[in-house]
Amino acid sequence: MKAPIRVAVTGAAGQIGYSLLFRIASGHMFGPDQPVILQLIEIPVEKAMKALEGVAMELDDCAFPLLKDMVLTDNGETGFKDANWSLLVGARPRGPGMERADLLKGNGVIFTAQGEIIDRVAAEDARVAVVGNPANTNVMIAASKAKRLTADRFTAMVRLDQNRAQAQLAKKAGVDLTAVKDIFIYGNHSPSMYPAFAHATIDGKPAAEVINDQAYLEGDFCSTVGKRGAAIIAARGLSSAASAANALVDHVHDLMTPGAIHSVAVKSEGRYGFDPDVWAGMPVRTTTPGAYEVITDYDLSDAFSQQKLAATNQELVDERAMVADMLG
Ligand code: NAI
Repeated sequence: MKAPIRVAVTGAAGQIGYSLLFRIASGHMFGPDQPVILQLIEIPVEKAMKALEGVAMELDDCAFPLLKDMVLTDNGETGFKDANWSLLVGARPRGPGMERADLLKGNGVIFTAQGEIIDRVAAEDARVAVVGNPANTNVMIAASKAKRLTADRFTAMVRLDQNRAQAQLAKKAGVDLTAVKDIFIYGNHSPSMYPAFAHATIDGKPAAEVINDQAYLEGDFCSTVGKRGAAIIAARGLSSAASAANALVDHVHDLMTPGAIHSVAVKSEGRYGFDPDVWAGMPVRTTTPGAYEVITDYDLSDAFSQQKLAATNQELVDERAMVADMLG
């Protein structure tokens, strides 16, 4: 039996947490032979900690053979101690009348503290995945606090957007989901993102050729994927949670699987025209468990792709400017 890995999860009593923890404990994230210890972190509020106790009781009641221990805490030093993976799901939600700048700054305080603590107390091989919104900017803030851990250890999730894009293309083409390949997300996890149909394929042929409806691809397709979160809130009265948890399972699983090619928001080094130092979604190939290289050879030189990349890059640059005083 392998030694257990420690997985810290913030926002563990929230909606996403409730769908996520059971998938981690049952082996979907790290594989069926990898035991885990869950380090569950919530805010120091009685209601949240009580809810967390309830979730832990349910985890006990699943009798998952891979779940070796649980730590329940409202203290980051305890929660991130020796963590191999830190999944930063908890974030400050946008309140009524709250400006985006206030949301960015409110979350900046949380991710500043968590970045510092993880850097100090997490495991030697620590890796961080940010889900809490605005995820791309939150991860940039957390990474900027790290002195020990290099920036490549910090990623943010755009996988939900990739999964949404893949599903939409399959539906439109009337094919099985598995026929859709090479669809990746570029830029911000926000409606400005670019689900790059330009290099997607369906049954091995260019998606644009199979779908044969450029107006749909540039219009409804991009806006359906970009605004899917809002559509789910409108329908369900709550934001996407099960699909977000599922996407995080995919995000981490694929980062631990050499050869996997998938969309991840990583630190830009200028590729695809992204400003250096913003965290932008782009395709990566996992090289060794937890490590990856950006795939740079997809052709996005067409005018529409260039315009979409420039717009989402601008949003990332603007967000960075709003939190400039919190970086470094
Ligand atoms: P939720 O409100 O149900 O749960 C959030 C939980 O985080 C709450 O239990 C809260 O007490 C906790 N929390 C807040 N600040 C914390 C902190 N500093 N430390 C530890 N715990 C903290 O929200 P839900 O639905 O679970 O979503 C969580 C986040 O994920 C939101 O920011 C949401 O916008 C984001 N999200 C991101 C997606 C993506 O694709 N990147 C997709 C869907 C949601």
